[in-house]
Amino acid sequence: MSLLNFVSFPPLGDERGSLVALESEKTVPFAIKRVYYIFATQKSVARGFHAHKNLKQVAICVTGKCRMILDNGENREEVWLDSPTKGLLINDLVWREMHDFSEDCVLLVLASEHYDENDYIRDYGSFLKQVRL
Ligand code: TYD
Repeated sequence: MSLLNFVSFPPLGDERGSLVALESEKTVPFAIKRVYYIFATQKSVARGFHAHKNLKQVAICVTGKCRMILDNGENREEVWLDSPTKGLLINDLVWREMHDFSEDCVLLVLASEHYDENDYIRDYGSFLKQVRL
């Protein structure tokens, strides 16, 4: 089964332009407890390099693009997030890396839980141990 599960957010467009609505437990398949965004990422910086024990997220590049790698310990898949209508669903226990941010990239992330540093697995070896239990 692919790790790349997308949620598409159809733009509600008219002659004035476009609008996307993100609704908790509707277009977004979980209750949203937290929203954050990553922007002004410096050239050649890569981010992420962690997994979460209990956290679902949807990542959307509202402007610009970046390359997202997802890894479940068996498969590694990648995708360009390059559209404000394309959300990538990231489940628990998935290692993620973000690379090749465009200068204008604004990566919006919707999360199912509040911030909790104890929920992070930041070491790839520990992540592999955990998924292979
Ligand atoms: P981090 O998760 O390490 O960024 P990334 O994995 O995307 O490279 O977060 C960077 C810093 O921001 C770190 O000190 C934790 C803090 N942070 C919060 O306080 N709240 C949040 O919701 C997030 C995502 C990060």
